[in-house]
Amino acid sequence: MAAPGRGMWGSRVGFILAAAGSAVGLGNIWGFPTQVGRGGGAAFVLVYLVCVFLVCAPILIAELAVGRRGRKDPAGSLEAIRPGNWKLVGVLGICAGVGILSFYSVIAGWTIAYIYFTLTGAVAGSPEAIGQFFGGFVANAPLTIGLTFVVLATTAGIIIGGVRDGIERMTKALMPALLLLLVVLMARSLTLPGAEAGLAYYLKPDFSKIFDMSIINAALGQAFFSLSLGMGAMITYGSYLDPKENIARAAAWVVVLDTSVALMAGFIIFPAGFTIPGFDPSTSGPGLIFAVLPRLFATMPGGELFGAAFFIMLTMAAITSTISLLEVPTSYLIDSRGWTRQQAVLTLAGVTFLLSIPSALGNGASAFFSSLPGVGMAFLDLMATVWNNFALPIGGLGLSVFVGWVWRADEALKELEIGGGMPGAALWSVLIRFVCPAAIAIIIFFTVRDLLG
Ligand code: PHE
Repeated sequence: MAAPGRGMWGSRVGFILAAAGSAVGLGNIWGFPTQVGRGGGAAFVLVYLVCVFLVCAPILIAELAVGRRGRKDPAGSLEAIRPGNWKLVGVLGICAGVGILSFYSVIAGWTIAYIYFTLTGAVAGSPEAIGQFFGGFVANAPLTIGLTFVVLATTAGIIIGGVRDGIERMTKALMPALLLLLVVLMARSLTLPGAEAGLAYYLKPDFSKIFDMSIINAALGQAFFSLSLGMGAMITYGSYLDPKENIARAAAWVVVLDTSVALMAGFIIFPAGFTIPGFDPSTSGPGLIFAVLPRLFATMPGGELFGAAFFIMLTMAAITSTISLLEVPTSYLIDSRGWTRQQAVLTLAGVTFLLSIPSALGNGASAFFSSLPGVGMAFLDLMATVWNNFALPIGGLGLSVFVGWVWRADEALKELEIGGGMPGAALWSVLIRFVCPAAIAIIIFFTVRDLLG
């Protein structure tokens, strides 16, 4: 049973919505198209889908099982199942939560500003004007730092109120509205004259890229990031899950929702993007969606209102993700260290805010943080690469070894069979014991070797 004072989801739907709310966010709508652009289009999409189904879906199921059995934060849950050093996998995840939140909240701040910019028509005109506007905005240090603060303060305010009330209520309203807006935008983008070029880029793979290690590593990292895996967010959410619910069914919903939203974002960005003269997704970087979407809204009647509604939804989707990012280290300080919820949230939000400042400054405001000497990357890109492409997969590797071999797949299956059985149990145990650890280890090994060599 849950320890006294631990929150619990209100219902099965509430849990699925909360987990989907964690998964669906900037990772899908901002991160996925950006990575597809960098990775050269359809080849990336293909590798991404393989990573989602063969590596990440089994790990999602494993994280939920660990959380519900352990009934604690990630480190505490691993410790409860098997005392010893395995809790360090949880501790790595807790650090990843703070690290990811520090750059994530900067981007979420940009989406808040774009609500206002689209509504007032401030961002409009030629592609060059739209690009220059973005460049000028992200280089405005006081504004972007202020918006980052707003994101973190809002997140902190919501989770001080506890798990169930804050997260569940917000996501219930959000998901259907977001899906509806995405479908409308997709219809508009796909019917633009010249949309075929973007569609071909997005769907026709260049097979020579499929074996490029840096693309495979980026796809793996993106899959972990998008599904909120490898850092214990799903362990934490699983720990608030009713003991009678079936885990595999909930996990299937989360994977389908999250992957659909990412794929839809691609169907919006690339057809519309390729209608812009001189468009090159490989060099657009983190500004990609902020360059393409305003052009798309301009082609729609009532585009300002529509655009503003879209950025409101995107901000809300981002907040349901920042909540889960902050909830992981918060639950650790409460469950394993005995802090009060308020102390934990305020301290963590403060530390994250300080860590977010270089990410906010690295988009033109400070030459140093915009292109780190010796690295040649912006601070924000460096953070995203370190946490998404390395820390999350390494966390997932540790977790799959833990569940497959230490806790043991057959023991974990007892937890998974509750509430309606576990379809594909044999397949899952092969994936979690062999495929997940081997695939991640190989990808990380070759990526590091290429980086050093
Ligand atoms: N999955 C979230 C997104 O796609 C980000 C996230 C990563 C949230 C890791 C929690 C943990 O936006």
